[in-house]
Amino acid sequence: MIKGEIILTGDRPSGPLHLGHYVGSLANRVSLQEHNKQFVMIADVQALTDNYEHPEKVRNNVLEVAYDYLAVGIDPKKTTIFIQSQLPELFELTIYYLNLVTVNRLQRNPTVKTEIKQKGFEDSVPAGFLMYPVSQAADITAFKATVVPVGEDQLPVIEQTNEIVKSFNRIYSCHVLKEAKALVPQIARLPGIDGQAKMSKSLGNAIFLSDSSDDIVQKVMKMYTDPLHVRASDPGRIEGNTVFMYLDVFDSNKEKVAELKEHYQRGGLGDVTVKKYLIEVLTQFLEPIRNRRREIAQNPQEVKNMLCEGTGQAQKVAHQTLEEVRTAMSLNYMLRE
Ligand code: TRP
Repeated sequence: MIKGEIILTGDRPSGPLHLGHYVGSLANRVSLQEHNKQFVMIADVQALTDNYEHPEKVRNNVLEVAYDYLAVGIDPKKTTIFIQSQLPELFELTIYYLNLVTVNRLQRNPTVKTEIKQKGFEDSVPAGFLMYPVSQAADITAFKATVVPVGEDQLPVIEQTNEIVKSFNRIYSCHVLKEAKALVPQIARLPGIDGQAKMSKSLGNAIFLSDSSDDIVQKVMKMYTDPLHVRASDPGRIEGNTVFMYLDVFDSNKEKVAELKEHYQRGGLGDVTVKKYLIEVLTQFLEPIRNRRREIAQNPQEVKNMLCEGTGQAQKVAHQTLEEVRTAMSLNYMLRE
């Protein structure tokens, strides 16, 4: 069990959260909040790096993401939930860290490289997007986080954070910044409903925590299975079969899943039958979340108050770190002797 650690994690509010977020890190946060000091950040500034033309979309999704957090059981009494843009400390840290990173190193970051391709930036990558790992290093180090629960795709970003931490402490001869460990869930990533490696809103292959029961039915019915499994009587393949991957993750009845797999491979089990079963399983998982979410969303003001409170608490911590950083960098002109 992980205890006594400082946890920092967050999500870009570029849409409501989906099952990939749940498996990737939300589930971990719900248990981590019990025995650690946990900060969860709604990364609206990071969301702007690829949505700068749509600030209103980012703004609207801040609240949607907050609803998702509360609906899955992140408890503001145990976890400090805050909004990134409201902490200027983070952006000041970012500027200092940028000196410790080369453009070349940023261009080689595998996470950024993949995203640049996905988003079709090609030769016109916004500088703000290219340097988002540095901004993320500021998020993590501002809280002196020791553990960062993230999906597998974010590992290179944590690695880069630790490089910055080491450079900073060495160059300014101090121990102000702390290295962080990534906490990757056992199921490293959930594929999208199209079978693609990653579930993501922009790829259009996501099941959202807020999806209606109709959405779930439609999406599961479209799910990628074994393209060669044409007739129910044919033997089917489990490997790469999205429906079975989801059952592995969301069905606690492992015996039943093993039985279905065996039957499917032998032949005689149709895709529609398995999909109907997956719909049942997902509905059981998502329905209580959806209901809680609906209830919470009836009271937006209460959620806004919670975010203000959390943001205030977070700012105190970030402010303290920034003072130490400035002192280490000999920038503490305004401190009275
Ligand atoms: N990059 C994360 C995402 O894609 C969001 C994020 C921003 C984050 N800052 C962070 C995650 C710091 C962990 C720690 O959703």
